[in-house]
Amino acid sequence: VKRVTTHTLQAMKQNGEKISMLTAYDYSLAKLVDAAGIDVILVGDSASNVMAGHETTLPITLDQMIYHASSVVRAAKRALVVVDMPFGSYQGNSSEALRSAIRIMKESGAHAIKMEGGAEIKESVVRILSAGIPVMGHLGLTPQSIYKFGTYSVRAKEEAEAKKLIEDALILQECGCFAIVLEKVPRQLAARVAQQLHIPVIGIGAGPNVDGQVLVLHDMLGITKDFNPRFLRRYADLHSVITEAVAQYIKDVKAVDFPNESESY
Ligand code: KIV
Ligand code: NA
Repeated sequence: VKRVTTHTLQAMKQNGEKISMLTAYDYSLAKLVDAAGIDVILVGDSASNVMAGHETTLPITLDQMIYHASSVVRAAKRALVVVDMPFGSYQGNSSEALRSAIRIMKESGAHAIKMEGGAEIKESVVRILSAGIPVMGHLGLTPQSIYKFGTYSVRAKEEAEAKKLIEDALILQECGCFAIVLEKVPRQLAARVAQQLHIPVIGIGAGPNVDGQVLVLHDMLGITKDFNPRFLRRYADLHSVITEAVAQYIKDVKAVDFPNESESY
């Protein structure tokens, strides 16, 4: 199989082919997602919530992200693997940012990194890109700034924030980012950004008129149940599937129905 690269994604935008992206944090699920034909696997810092049960993405460490990323890289034969730079590993210090990015690339074997923010992180983005590491931007609702925002509601509904978002997107493109994630912004604004930029814009809660879509795997599979934003479509109800399977197993063990004759040596 031919590996998806940042150049493949650029060509997809030019040809009008939408980019599919999902998160994965471990070998087994990454292997399924990759074999199903996903274009990009994001080792998101949403692992902090989904894998570790934290309330926000802030606590996850660089070492933990590298552990998740290396598991995903071993599974992905075709997909481009992008890894989130965790909170505290890049903000406000470009040499630390570069060091963190190099650790992710070197220790996990991933293909690119993702960072939240615009103008504020410009220096770090430029420095990482100059080391030959592809960078994906992330604007709109940036969960590492949740304590600044106060809520997880839609961003850039007001003119001033929308204007800054467009400026930031242009800055990230000028720096040389290969793509940008736009999270939870009005669809018209997202469409406008996707139209203005020549690099792919991948949306989550950003409407259909962008160059691709990303969702958190555990959310779209219905493993998580208590997270129900408007933008989330559930493609399976694994919560029920797993709950029923485990309940049946317990019943069979208690009833000495499992293991039966053919399941014993
Ligand atoms: O961490 C994550 O899962 C993400 C996506 C929601 C874009 O950043
Ligand atoms: Na993230």
